[in-house]
Parts: sequence; structure tokens; C-alpha cells
Amino acid sequence: MRILVTGSKGQLGNELRRLLATGTAEIGPVPDVYAGVKAHFVDVDELDITDRDAVDAFFVDDSFDAVVNCAAMTNVDGCETAEDAAYRVNALGPENLARASARQGAKFVQVSTDYVFPGDEPGERIESDVTGPISAYGRTKLAGEELSLAANTRTFVVRTAWLYGYVGKNFVKTMLRLAHELGAMEVVDDQMGNPTSANDLAYEILQLLTTEEYGIYHCTNKGICSWAEFAKAIVERAGFDPAIVTPCTSDEYAAAHPLAARRPRYSALKNKHLEETVGDKMRPWNLALDSYFANLKLGQ
Ligand SMILES: NC(=O)c1ccc[n+]([C@@H]2O[C@H](COP(=O)([O-])OP(=O)(O)OC[C@H]3O[C@@H](n4cnc5c(N)ncnc54)[C@H](OP(=O)(O)O)[C@@H]3O)[C@@H](O)[C@H]2O)c1
Repeated sequence: MRILVTGSKGQLGNELRRLLATGTAEIGPVPDVYAGVKAHFVDVDELDITDRDAVDAFFVDDSFDAVVNCAAMTNVDGCETAEDAAYRVNALGPENLARASARQGAKFVQVSTDYVFPGDEPGERIESDVTGPISAYGRTKLAGEELSLAANTRTFVVRTAWLYGYVGKNFVKTMLRLAHELGAMEVVDDQMGNPTSANDLAYEILQLLTTEEYGIYHCTNKGICSWAEFAKAIVERAGFDPAIVTPCTSDEYAAAHPLAARRPRYSALKNKHLEETVGDKMRPWNLALDSYFANLKLGQ
């Protein structure tokens, strides 16, 4: 088995590397089919996925059974003021990879987001629910889904949310920094979602890749909370009083940060398609967060 992982220096790329190197995830062993896998990890310095010629040339020089695209422009506020650039990375880049992998008969994984949904309805979204992004990030990621599915019939679109890994930037690390540096923070309390461990997500992606069950998947840790509830759980695990987190509304946050992108109010996902195929082993989010704190040194 030969696998290409793009955007591999990011959060998810690092967890895929860890799982393939160690043969295990926090929620279970990596399937035997990956024993002896030849994995090629690249990031923008080696393969810029927006450069179609470079992608095509890369696939001429090498061939793969599976390609997992972890590359993305993930700065949600940054996408708002640079939507063209975001479209190149989040939509055209995946299309380039999907086409090139299709020519080799390789399976393709495009990782996507809960922000493809408008988020105006409480509850959990399933894979077939109607999309309707309200941010540039969401629009470009949805385009990436559609272009990938059209370019390679062997595509898995895997939507995740509120992702945190041991390596790279994320909300957990930001809250820890604010707790240590300022001892206080204001966090939005009226946007609901599913915090998700990149280690768990990497596990389910490797499970899916052993199948031919192509299509759209939701893959998040279980349970729903607000960003403020997530922040309280984070600082508490680091020994701070959760009261240092002051809940605020989205409107209050927007007034203080006028350039921030709009975000869905309810963007929790239900892993229906996972349940129906390889099985949903994603943990409750608070248990995954416990593991993260127990293993924080992996990010050093
Ligand atoms: N983070 C979240 O909360 C979240 C939530 C929902 C869905 N997702 C999705 O999950 C996936 C993985 O996210 P992540 O948090 O692991 O992302 P990440 O940590 O931001 O990593 C993305 C990687 O892609 C690289 N990259 C950017 N432009 C590229 C290009 N043109 N060619 C090749 N590589 C490029 C980045 O390099 P630079 O750092 O140098 O730009 C970075 O190493 C993405 O598809 C993201 O949209 C993430």
C-alpha cells in the first residue's frame, strides 16, 4: 500500500503520520493492511496543491493507492478577506489531487468541515442535510467537496469540526496560552458544535480507506457543547478555575472583532454514515480531551 498525505505538517497530517508509524491510535489499532505501508508526507514546501502542473508532475514521478488531502487554508477569518486565495487552496487544490489520483485509480480523501452548513437549526446534521455555508471558508470547502467528488469517483469527503491535534495551532492551545498569559478570556457561548481529536479522526480515515464505501462522511467526537463550555473544560484540566472563562454572545464578539467571519450557530454533526459502514468509534469529546491532556508532551 502506498499513501500520499498532503498538507502533512498540519494537525491532522501529523496524527496520520503518528498512527502509521506506531500502528495504533488512541481508540484502537491501525488495520493490518497498513503494515509495511509506504507513506509519503508532503506539505506546501514540497507540493503546492494549487499548482496543477506540479501536482500532475508529482503523480507522474510516483504512484499511490490512496491520497489523503489534509492541506487547507484553515484560518476562517483570513479566508473572509482572501476568498480567491482560499478557493485556490480549499477547492482547486483538492480538484487537482482528485483528478491526479483518479488517473491512477487511487482512492482520495478530502477532509471538510461543519462550516458547510448554515447552522440555523438546533440539533445534529447528517451527511444528506442541505448545505449552505455562511462564510468564505465554508463556501470554498464546499466547492472542494463538490469538485473532488466530481473528479474522482473513489472519493471520501470526511467532514470534521473544532479539530485539535498535538502538533499545530488550535483552540485548546490558544485557551491554554490565554489562561497562562492573561488569566481570563471571553468566549462565545451561543455557537454549538463537536470538539474533535485529530488522533480519533485519523483513525477513522484509515478505517474508511480500507473500504470502497465512497461518499460523504461526518466524523466528529460525540456530544455537543458551546465554545465557552469547551474553553472551561480546557482550562479546568490545566488546573485553572473555569470561572476565568467569561461567556459572551456572538453579537458581542462580532462587535469587538468586526473583521471576524460569521460562524454557524448550530454546526454539530452526526456520524451516521460511519455508523452504517466501518463503525463509529469516535469518543465522547470530554474523554478525548482527557487523553489529549494526558499526552500533551507529544506536541513538544
Ligand atoms: N482546524 C479545524 O478546526 C478544522 C475544523 C473542521 C475541518 N477542518 C479541516 O480539516 C483538515 C485538516 O485541518 P488541520 O487543522 O490539520 O489543518 P492545518 O493544521 O491548518 O494544516 C494544513 C496544512 O496545509 C498546508 N497548506 C496550506 N496551503 C497549502 C498548499 N497550497 N499546498 C499544500 N499544503 C498547503 C499548511 O501549510 P501552512 O501552515 O504553511 O499554510 C498546513 O501545513 C482541513 O481540510 C481543514 O479544512 C479543520
